[in-house]
Amino acid sequence: MCGISGIVGFKNIAMPLLNSIRHLEYRGYDSCGVAIMSNNSIVVRKNIGSVDEVNEREKLSEPDGKIGIAHTRWATHGGVTKENTHPHLSCEGDFALVHNGIISNYSEIKKELIHGGHRFNSETDTEVIVHLIEKYFVLSKDAEKAFIRALKRLEGTYAIAMITTHEKDKIFCAKRESPLVIGLGDEINYLGSDFNAFIDYTKNAVVLDDDEYAVVSRDHYFIKKIISGEVIRKRITEINWDSDMAKKGGYPHYMLKEIYEQPQCIVNAMQVDKALIKKLSDMIMKSRHVYLIGAGTTYYVSLMSEYHFSSIAGVFTPAINSDEFKNLAYIDKDTLIIAVSQSGETYDTLNALKFAKGKGAKTAAIVNVMGSSIARLVDHTIMQGSGPEICVISTKAALSQMAILLLVALEMAVNNKRISVRNKNEIEKQISHLPELIQKVLNEKSGFIHTIANKFSHINNWLYLGRGKYYPIALESSLKMKEVAYVHAEGMPAGFLKHGTIALIDEKLYSVIFMPPRSDEELYRLTAGSAEEIKARKGFTLGFHFGEKGEGEKLFSEEIILPKAHSIIAPFLELVVAQLFAYFTAVALKRNIDKPRSLAKSVTVA
Ligand code: G6P
Repeated sequence: MCGISGIVGFKNIAMPLLNSIRHLEYRGYDSCGVAIMSNNSIVVRKNIGSVDEVNEREKLSEPDGKIGIAHTRWATHGGVTKENTHPHLSCEGDFALVHNGIISNYSEIKKELIHGGHRFNSETDTEVIVHLIEKYFVLSKDAEKAFIRALKRLEGTYAIAMITTHEKDKIFCAKRESPLVIGLGDEINYLGSDFNAFIDYTKNAVVLDDDEYAVVSRDHYFIKKIISGEVIRKRITEINWDSDMAKKGGYPHYMLKEIYEQPQCIVNAMQVDKALIKKLSDMIMKSRHVYLIGAGTTYYVSLMSEYHFSSIAGVFTPAINSDEFKNLAYIDKDTLIIAVSQSGETYDTLNALKFAKGKGAKTAAIVNVMGSSIARLVDHTIMQGSGPEICVISTKAALSQMAILLLVALEMAVNNKRISVRNKNEIEKQISHLPELIQKVLNEKSGFIHTIANKFSHINNWLYLGRGKYYPIALESSLKMKEVAYVHAEGMPAGFLKHGTIALIDEKLYSVIFMPPRSDEELYRLTAGSAEEIKARKGFTLGFHFGEKGEGEKLFSEEIILPKAHSIIAPFLELVVAQLFAYFTAVALKRNIDKPRSLAKSVTVA
């Protein structure tokens, strides 16, 4: 996820352009830059850091010009460096371009362009686009034609904005899967990844759809289909959000927005470079001891992956809380530590890695922030590509990490000859249904979950019970409830209940039961048994299950029914329900949702 903006007007646009990327910073904050047409040539100013830091060093609003584009970056291809920062220029400096998304066929295009004499300054997938346009411009001498011809070559996802010295009063833009909106002013028009880019200046916008491009000048714009060239007329949308609402994409809180971004995050997780997945799998297979480590939510992600590695690949890799790592792990040169961290900065996890490195262990990490301390420290990093997570409570980052490590488990299972490549492809196909099923839960169930959360928001104590893979899900779900709603929720293996905790059960203690689908026969039967034990003692049970309405009448006091799902993805759906349940409970209790008391996004102290 990155932020794009553009402005074309009749007076100097440098200051509003800078302002627009300030508003887009929440979409990415590794680095940023602007390209402004000044005295018939394009001036690029860019660097790494926050918008204000870069502005202080590079004076982003200094160049004088009436047309410009800007970008704030969340790195996916290539490290956080000045060279990799957008905008990117063509060899002759006559085209400047910014991009959000991932061009999956960039390496083959890059080879072809290098062969044709183009010089590259960055490691990004983006830079190929601007050189490709330059190449086609040399042939046609028509900027629009060159732009479309280049677009037709691109595979993957993009929102693109481009300016050129050959058409000094136009911004060329296009989109496929990444968002792009045109803002309409009076003798001035805007472009943005979302309304934030221009909400201070205009409330009138036109939203581009996939596979459309637009050419925008100060008093005119048109939109066409990329393939057919057909002209598209669109309704003007009036934005009635304030600027804070707009940053949250219309959602009342970042937490909800990020829960709703999860279908896209799983798509991104499944697009992680297969070579990186394979490398981690090979590292695991070559090591004698392997530990998964994390803190808070990422410890639970590690625990989930311990179940996946063991049950799917037959490889036992204990998950250890980062802060207990030194006290527990046995480390030698044949040891591999896999750290899971959203921020890449958590002190306990970083410290555990340094300790293990000091003893000669190998290290790897799944992180969401490129250039973070953990990403830089380890021998092998997988970037999860979930986009910035602003809410302190982790939702989308954790779900993506679980999905990526599930892909690693499948790779290991093939390596270990537990499954064939064909089986693996079949299972991956099942996983590819996860985004649409999450979307279904979000669309069809969130209203009901809201009602249930309101109804039980006065309950002070919950037990969250699950077996097998549903145990880490129960733990992570209970942590969501504690963190955001300040309500006591204790996660526990459902089988553990009878060994003591059952003494607590009465009509005042409420339990959530994470039921597997019926296809997981033994797990289903045993989990149902735990629900019965609670009901028999007059306890209240809220069942998350995949059955028919009323199927769990004897087992559950209330039920939330999920769409039918393959057992490999079923636990993910239950986590989404639990996130919404915690969120709506917190709303009912009027909590400080995006910044709960005493919590910090990354805990950088011991
Ligand atoms: C802190 C936060 C937790 C988070 C953990 C790991 O403890 O309060 O919510 O899960 O750090 O953060 P990381 O950035 O490493 O994933």
